[in-house]
Amino acid sequence: MANTYKIAVLPGDGIGPDVIEQGIKVLKAITEKFGHKFKFTYGLIGGIAVDEKGVPLPEETIELAKNSDAVFLGAVGDWKYDTLDPAIRPEKGLLGIRKELELFANLRPAMMYDELVSSSTLKEEYVKGVDIMIVRELTGDVYFGEPKGIQERNGQKVGFNNMIYWEYEIERIAKLAFAIAMKRSKKLCSVDKANVLDVSRLWREVVERVAKNYPEVELSHMYVDNAAMQLIRNPKQFDVMVTGNIFGDILSDEASMLIGSLGMLASASLTDKGPAMYEPSHGSAPDLKGLNKVNPIATIMSAAMMLKYSFNLDNEAEAVENAVKQVLKDGYRTFDIMSEGKTLVGTSQMGDLIAENIFC
Ligand code: IPM
Ligand code: MG
Repeated sequence: MANTYKIAVLPGDGIGPDVIEQGIKVLKAITEKFGHKFKFTYGLIGGIAVDEKGVPLPEETIELAKNSDAVFLGAVGDWKYDTLDPAIRPEKGLLGIRKELELFANLRPAMMYDELVSSSTLKEEYVKGVDIMIVRELTGDVYFGEPKGIQERNGQKVGFNNMIYWEYEIERIAKLAFAIAMKRSKKLCSVDKANVLDVSRLWREVVERVAKNYPEVELSHMYVDNAAMQLIRNPKQFDVMVTGNIFGDILSDEASMLIGSLGMLASASLTDKGPAMYEPSHGSAPDLKGLNKVNPIATIMSAAMMLKYSFNLDNEAEAVENAVKQVLKDGYRTFDIMSEGKTLVGTSQMGDLIAENIFC
């Protein structure tokens, strides 16, 4: 009998529900073509959870996620919550679930499709063939470090966060990055700010130590400011990059522009225990909510990552990737990747087209 995979679906805010709907369409097409069973159970996270339950990450959502085989998340946040107490801002829901599930490794593949070369704001010769895997640490760093806050001292307000990494946190993300590098071109670039930050000096020391177990991998280190520049100057020098939470947040947005649009950047957040989570790297874009304009490909490709990493359904993941390629080849584009002579489609049509192009 076919396995039933339990998927917790957390659409969230803004365009989250719009793109998640397309991801579900594609997963349903996988069900029909390959005969797997997916059981989708919906839950609340972010602003909508604040509206309905008073908190951005209700207990039942945590329970649902923990009792599922994978979590499929849209996006959180809306300007209307900007004035909320920071403790219940929608973003807390996302950070909270990452922490609850211990999703320490965030994989963000920046892969340029040949069909989209002209959508990048950069010159073709630099971006054609770009294929970078950003491995971002996701449960440490200034995102979670204590102490933090805004206080009043000597009649002045002072704001502070703590950039902190424990050895075990660096070690586990480094091991995963090396393992990924082994499966790709055996090149790993670790990004830090070791010329200034103590936390980065420890980062580098631990990465070097882990490297001893992966003698085949060519390891390099780069300061984050230089990495930001090199990503634009010559992106093809990179294959796998590993970095901390905040640097990874910034560099992955930058990398998305190499491949044409933030709407193309999928992500998988992995752990060594329990379910993993899959979400597009973009935010909730509340101004575009419900307008049928945004690009669902990042979400659909995140679903493909779920098939691959959580369910070991490699052929099915490939079927999704091929469907995306085919639709782009056929000339269909959402507005963010639109170029002359192509056919403009909305979010929902893009989802339909990709679902229709799923084949065994
Ligand atoms: C991301 C987002 C989040 C982050 C925000 C929404 C909290 O920017 O997933 O990259 O900073 O991690
Ligand atoms: Mg970000």
